[in-house]
Amino acid sequence: MKKILITGGAGFIGSHVVRLFVNKYPDYHIFNLDKLTYAGNLLNLTDIENKPNYTFIKGDIVDGDLMLSLFKTHQFDGVIHLAAESHVDRSIENPMEFVMTNVVGTVNLLNAAKAVWKDNLEGKRFYHVSTDEVYGALGHEGFFTEETAYDPHSPYSASKASSDHFVRAYHDTYGLPTIISNCSNNYGPNQFPEKLIPLFLNNIRNNKPLPVYGKGENVRDWLYVIDHAAAIDVIYHKGPDGETYNIGGHNEWKNIDLIKVMIKAMDKKLGREPGSSEKLITYVTDRAGHDLRYAIDSSKLQNELGWKPSLQFEEGIEKTIDWYFNNEDWLDSTTSGDYQKYYDKMYGNR
Ligand code: NAD
Ligand code: DAU
Repeated sequence: MKKILITGGAGFIGSHVVRLFVNKYPDYHIFNLDKLTYAGNLLNLTDIENKPNYTFIKGDIVDGDLMLSLFKTHQFDGVIHLAAESHVDRSIENPMEFVMTNVVGTVNLLNAAKAVWKDNLEGKRFYHVSTDEVYGALGHEGFFTEETAYDPHSPYSASKASSDHFVRAYHDTYGLPTIISNCSNNYGPNQFPEKLIPLFLNNIRNNKPLPVYGKGENVRDWLYVIDHAAAIDVIYHKGPDGETYNIGGHNEWKNIDLIKVMIKAMDKKLGREPGSSEKLITYVTDRAGHDLRYAIDSSKLQNELGWKPSLQFEEGIEKTIDWYFNNEDWLDSTTSGDYQKYYDKMYGNR
């Protein structure tokens, strides 16, 4: 039985990857290692938590001794590393937490894999899940390819870029069998309501202001989270060692246009006058260092490994809104407690 360590499996994307692997590969044992920060939530995994091929381990990747002892005890064959501090706005407030988890935590995992795998690299794989933000910002034209030079602008993207460099360095220096993917913005069920889509869905639901940064003209390339998980599956199993793959949906939206699509769909579901929630749109001070546009060229992944997105955006956003409507308890529990303190700090009493 193959043993695979998935880090950050209680978070947004990680929980979808854990679910996919536990259900699709009954002959793998999946170990989900997660610190359960504010972003980690075991409620994301109640449907698979009792499966015989699944084990949850609460732990912090910043603890290097713990990582080494887990590798020694469980003799993992593979790692899919998603654990990270992932929110740009939080990185602007507290960069050091991002350095610790995203950089030091990643190097701890690399060191543990290197130490335990050194005598037999056969069948081993260290998969690092990264972001398109490492490439910086695009103007109105062009796409990020795997050849685009790194140019991170936020503490978050700088920490992810640094972790990518360490992963490549361990491949080139020690021969560790690594692989990296850089994905565009994800959306879908279970995303913590600090990120644009779930934050605004929740605020529309509660008739609260929608804090649009700057003029709302920044562009993001949105991918449904299940399609990201499917890409990770394909890359983990078929991608050659040392490679990098960009993952994206060819689905670019200006923030303000995306927000209006959400408002239209939400007003319909809430029985409000169509478009009436547009009155909640509130333009606020722009995010510092705000990247204008991200857009991914995923042709390498599509041509070499045969992945492509399964969903059109209109269907994905409907499914997402339905999920949040059907899981109001999840939304209410994630927005109680410390969430309110975070909200007040970021957005004042708007
Ligand atoms: P998330 O914030 O929802 O989840 C992160 C998970 O990591 C949480 O469960 C948290 O508890 C855990 N974690 C944080 N610090 C930890 C630590 N020190 N030790 C162990 N566990 C820890 O993040 P997400 O949006 O699911 O992103 C997952 C990964 O995918 C990240 O590496 C992120 O950089 C990358 N990514 C995200 C997106 C996106 O749009 N969300 C896009 C591309 C890449
Ligand atoms: O591109 C991949 C990245 O996408 C991931 O690596 C990150 O983990 C993920 O958080 C996401 O980063 P963004 O900064 O693009 O996502 P966010 O949802 O925070 O913001 C999306 C856009 O919406 C961005 O242009 C900022 C804007 N925004 C965001 C918030 C939270 C607002 O206008 N108002 C807001 O309140």
